[in-house]
Amino acid sequence: LSDDLDERLAWPDELRYLLERHPRATWTSSRSPSVAFWLEVHTHFRYDCAALEDAHADLRGGRLAAPRFAVAAGQRLRSLVGGLHGHHQIEDHQYFPAFRLREPRLAAGFDTLARDHERLHGDIAAALGALRDLNAAAQAPNAATVDLAARRFADAASRLCRRLRRHLDDEEDLVVPLLLVHDDH
Ligand SMILES: [Fe+2]
Ligand SMILES: [Fe+2]
Repeated sequence: LSDDLDERLAWPDELRYLLERHPRATWTSSRSPSVAFWLEVHTHFRYDCAALEDAHADLRGGRLAAPRFAVAAGQRLRSLVGGLHGHHQIEDHQYFPAFRLREPRLAAGFDTLARDHERLHGDIAAALGALRDLNAAAQAPNAATVDLAARRFADAASRLCRRLRRHLDDEEDLVVPLLLVHDDH
């Protein structure tokens, strides 16, 4: 059970007993409002990340100048970060404690997810720091400095998004089957 979001591939067998009963392919047909809500929130985060990566691709492809990239990607990062902070708070303080009580055999998984939040907050801080550097560089007349700061920001944002996707996928694999078992039966 790895804490490393760059290395983790999936949950170990002992945390997969509900997922085996409710595999991902069956989720959309479940019509559970709580599942739909959970997936919808995560879809929004993935959407923000996809938009950040599109902006980065436009920067790399020369379709977006670094100062405009700074504005567009900065707005998107702030939207993502604002949503994530509130979401992680409610998961750590309300949902995960309730889920540990409902399904004690999954407690180790929720502990791992809570630790993911702390690690992701480090990646969020790094991306926001890189954004501040980019905005400062965008005020300067030196194009090479702006380009370098834009690349550094894009790297920090893509590291955050890569790790966030791993977290969202694993969280869904743990939470959605639990909701299907406990909320709908
Ligand atoms: Fe989470
Ligand atoms: Fe979540």
